[in-house]
Amino acid sequence: MKRELVIVLDFGGQYNQLVARRVRECNVYCEIYSYKTDLEAIKNMNPRGIILTGGPSSCYEESAATCSRELFELGIPILGLCYGAQLMMLELGGKVERADVREYGKSEVFIGKTCSKVFEGVSEKTVCWMSHFDYISQVAPGFEVTAHTAACPTAAAENEAEKLYAIQFHPEVLHTAEGTKMINNFVKNVCACAGDWKMETFVENSIREIRAKVGSGKVLCALSGGVDSSVAAVMLSKAIGSQLTCVFVDHGLLRKNEGDEVEAVFGSEGSYDLNFVRVNAQERFYNKLAGIEEPEEKRKIIGEEFIRVFEEEAKKIGAVDFLVQGTIYPDVVESGLGGESAVIKSHHNVGGLPDYVDFKEIIEPLRDLFKDEVRKAGLEMGIPEKLVFRQPFPGPGLGIRIVGEVTAEKVRMVQEADAIYREEMDAAGMNKIVGQYFAALTNMRSVGVMGDERTYDYAVALRAVNTIDFMTAEAAEVPYEVLNKVMSRIINEVRGVNRVMYDLTSKPPGTIEFE
Ligand code: XMP
Repeated sequence: MKRELVIVLDFGGQYNQLVARRVRECNVYCEIYSYKTDLEAIKNMNPRGIILTGGPSSCYEESAATCSRELFELGIPILGLCYGAQLMMLELGGKVERADVREYGKSEVFIGKTCSKVFEGVSEKTVCWMSHFDYISQVAPGFEVTAHTAACPTAAAENEAEKLYAIQFHPEVLHTAEGTKMINNFVKNVCACAGDWKMETFVENSIREIRAKVGSGKVLCALSGGVDSSVAAVMLSKAIGSQLTCVFVDHGLLRKNEGDEVEAVFGSEGSYDLNFVRVNAQERFYNKLAGIEEPEEKRKIIGEEFIRVFEEEAKKIGAVDFLVQGTIYPDVVESGLGGESAVIKSHHNVGGLPDYVDFKEIIEPLRDLFKDEVRKAGLEMGIPEKLVFRQPFPGPGLGIRIVGEVTAEKVRMVQEADAIYREEMDAAGMNKIVGQYFAALTNMRSVGVMGDERTYDYAVALRAVNTIDFMTAEAAEVPYEVLNKVMSRIINEVRGVNRVMYDLTSKPPGTIEFE
């Protein structure tokens, strides 16, 4: 079945992935491409619609990111957002100018044309997220203004006959109260998409495709227990059963009881047919990390040691035909293959590509999915919610949540403190509100008093952040009672810790991890 496709042409806007996600939430498949994408290539993709994103430049400048006028003449519905809207106007004969003041933040938008196909069901007065300096001072011939704000005469415009729509604000951002409705209206009412891209179908099709590709071949998968590798492994297992072997390296830097939990779900007692091999390599990692304090060096050692252990296991299995990778769509976009924002991923993922294993091809069954879609696919295949809704956990694990040297004793302290913290946060319902939270062990020891005794012990740092994209984050407002209870339990229950602190730092300038 040919799937309906809407493409996002990225002009360097920070919300490019959000736009694609919103489209996919309408059950329409969507991919991101650079604005430089060739017109022929676009035609060949045969998209039902095109969305032009925001971007940092001014469209009237010489060096501005642009697109050809022919793009608007293909007969394909186009929605321009922010910069994309201005570019559409300029290319088609309208005017864009610099405003006296920047309009930034929530604005009240007045919808003038309530019968517009993109504003169907949208309130006449609605709150939208604006972020622009330039504004459309004159719409292009054939266009009519369909919405405005107090500061902006053209908050939206359209040429209904040509199926061209321009929106100055950002419907993709959740601050725009009825933004999702507008995007849904565009893809359904204007692009005439049926919206039949469902996770159920994706899973079924992927399983069929994997089966056809692998044939009778042998497949190897490094399973970390994280969401992506777990979903990929289960999908492979459903497709090819015992031709798959999953290697799970326990580097001794997992959260408390995590190794056993992963084994309980995926091991021989669990309900999946994964040929699960657990390698208990804790001592090996601790030995390699002894005396090492520098965070980058620790990351490197953990990454390399992981590869060595995996390599040894792979050798036992012998040559394989395919290697599974849990690459997901944001990795593809961020590594520069889609869109404009080519931020090369700097994270060292322990599950990264081992180029030493003798294999013919890589299988990346989740390459087209966003994280929330990977989760949906996981649920679809019956993976327990507890695993599917896990918080992100860095590949190098607790190795980068212990400041300074890593020792088995410090791992114990941070594991116990973290388990208490998570337990109390979950009990207080904070797990549904806060994006990521964990305990870290600082390298600071200080004097305390417990009972009648003087102590000289470590300080635990509690971290909890709200974030959408993990590129920026703010410390979450965890209720004081929760923090207080966590503090008291950690001090009482975790030997070697006599102080607990809450980290208020946002990112930037801080990072989310505490290394
Ligand atoms: P930072 O500390 O860079 O973290 O603000 C941003 C997000 O990425 C996670 N993180 C990692 N994930 N391998 C991973 O798979 C890593 O090496 C790594 N380092 C950080 C971190 O938990 C946060 O969610």
